[in-house]
Amino acid sequence: MRAFLELESLTRVFAGTPAVRELSLQVGEHEIVTLLGPSGCGKTTTLRMIAGFERPDSGRVVVDGRDVTGMPPQKRGFGMVFQHYALFPHLSVAENVAFGLETAGLGKAEIESRVGRALDLVRLPGTQGRSVSSLSGGQQQRIALARALAPAPKVLLLDEPLSKLDAALREQTRRELRSLVKEIGMTTVYVTHDQEEAFDLADRIAVLRQGLLDQVGPAEQLYRRPATQFVATFLGRAGAVAGTVEGVPEDGVVMCRLGADICWPALAPASAPLTKGAAVRLLARPEALAFAPSDQEAVLNGQVTERRFAGSFYVYRVSAGGGELEVQSDSSDAKPGDRVGVVPRAAPAGLFAFARSAGEGDGA
Ligand SMILES: Nc1ncnc2c1ncn2[C@@H]1O[C@H](COP(=O)(O)OP(=O)(O)O)[C@@H](O)[C@H]1O
Ligand SMILES: [Mg+2]
Repeated sequence: MRAFLELESLTRVFAGTPAVRELSLQVGEHEIVTLLGPSGCGKTTTLRMIAGFERPDSGRVVVDGRDVTGMPPQKRGFGMVFQHYALFPHLSVAENVAFGLETAGLGKAEIESRVGRALDLVRLPGTQGRSVSSLSGGQQQRIALARALAPAPKVLLLDEPLSKLDAALREQTRRELRSLVKEIGMTTVYVTHDQEEAFDLADRIAVLRQGLLDQVGPAEQLYRRPATQFVATFLGRAGAVAGTVEGVPEDGVVMCRLGADICWPALAPASAPLTKGAAVRLLARPEALAFAPSDQEAVLNGQVTERRFAGSFYVYRVSAGGGELEVQSDSSDAKPGDRVGVVPRAAPAGLFAFARSAGEGDGA
């Protein structure tokens, strides 16, 4: 895919503390990339640099081959919704949504039709004549989204644009947003701290941690082959036990010794090679583990500390190997206090080995 929006080594420092550190990212034409990470990791700062509200200390923003780093926001022609969206309170809904269309010099009929379509999308049809200040916070957020979409901009920048909507409406709106973005062909960067939202919406997810990009890829790749411990635990659940590397990694798989006669294979990160004898933390997804008779081979013995009902299955917390694992099971047979044996279901799938640094403890 041709890169339409390119971030080249963007850095932004506030009072000596970097909020974004040498961030490079390419967004393909018509692609939706979500910036995902916890609060304070630099998502909004990155988006503001793309928009032109924040000047990077170093690095460049390139759109369609053109350096726009020094260009003022209004000249960039991007559609945007920021967390503190600014609607014009004295104007009607229609006037707010039509704002970008009028400056684009479209005819009256075309403007009316686009406003109507944008309002349909955000599920507020027929509200053209309402005053913005009469609407709820969630409704105002949807008007802000409609205003950003109506001109069908080439680049769409959205910062948690659905945060004020209730769960059901949020899910529905993001599905419709995705199909509209794809239909019109907008290149989109969508900021969220919500993993589920990122999974639902994105072609690729960029995971940010403390201003650094940990990994970029399709949701499935990040879930199945996380590059860092942070990605493994931020996207999905994972328990952890301590181990030692038994042999040299082969084809990205490493044997980890967890006990005298217990070795489990695990996926090793390509970026940080593990050497024989290295101390590792073995992370395991709940669905990658199962209970087994404790006299079977390679069984890690432990004790159930918690049982959680998760709808179509149960999740057990098991303290084992100096750490805490989670085991997904269809059965409700085990209960807190029970001694259990844990085995991998289809190793190395769902098992990840990461180097354990000297300062870290043995367990999770
Ligand atoms: N204008 C600013 N002045 C000083 N510090 C800021 C400013 N904007 C953001 N920061 C800091 O930069 C870091 C990243 O913030 P932000 O990009 O808003 O994170 P996120 O959107 O991921 O929650 C935070 O530590 C925040 O306090
Ligand atoms: Mg933010």
